[in-house]
Amino acid sequence: MKKLLVANWKCNPTSQKESKAILSALKKNIKQLRKVEVVIAPPFVYLAQLGKVLPKAKKGAQNCFWADKGSYTGEISAKMLKDMGCHYVIIGHSERRNILEEGDRVINKKIKKVLEAKMRPILCIGEEKEDKHKGRTFKVLERQLREDLKDIKKKDLAKIIIAYEPVWAIGQGTPCEENQVMTVALFIKKTITRWANKKTAEQIAILYGGSVDSENLLNYTKGLALDGFLVGGSSLRPKEFAKMIKILEGL
Ligand code: PGA
Repeated sequence: MKKLLVANWKCNPTSQKESKAILSALKKNIKQLRKVEVVIAPPFVYLAQLGKVLPKAKKGAQNCFWADKGSYTGEISAKMLKDMGCHYVIIGHSERRNILEEGDRVINKKIKKVLEAKMRPILCIGEEKEDKHKGRTFKVLERQLREDLKDIKKKDLAKIIIAYEPVWAIGQGTPCEENQVMTVALFIKKTITRWANKKTAEQIAILYGGSVDSENLLNYTKGLALDGFLVGGSSLRPKEFAKMIKILEGL
């Protein structure tokens, strides 16, 4: 499987002009990729531009709603995103959990909708700093997995991408130690094996996210291979993101 490099632009940049500049700067870097699938998840309003300027990148969204349509002011449905040409939708990012107060029940509904719309959800899970210090990391991760993946059929589970994003490592320049990332990746595989089976667990893709940049990327590609990365800050700096593409393509 190709390595996934997912750009999570969050609520940036603030103009079409800037977003076009970032996309244009990446053009020559994603012309002929054999080993990497580049996914860009910009704010919804830049998705059309992404398709025009960088058609070789896969379209991703940062969120979606859990109904197809109706009286839900301000919401964007998975069905609309599919129609827009999206392949991936990030669900349950810690910023949505913490700032927008999105809970596991809503996250579970959204994942099901993304699957129903035949896109791949990128489910973000991760512990807070306090959880880590109190030794609750695995307990928190297991709860998130259990509730977020509730009642999802085995055949669908295999399509889900899980991004391990320890909350304390996001946007802080303090990436998670590689051993912990590997231990968590194994824990996720074991948990899914227990709930479904080994084959499903093997198919589930696991990403790491949290202060990843071109300097530390290679630390995570040794040992148990991850399936890719979810990148915030570094994905808004085209030169830096291009370096990361190159490193993964060269593995
Ligand atoms: P970061 O963000 O790379 O800026 O730490 C990652 C994320 O929030 O997905």
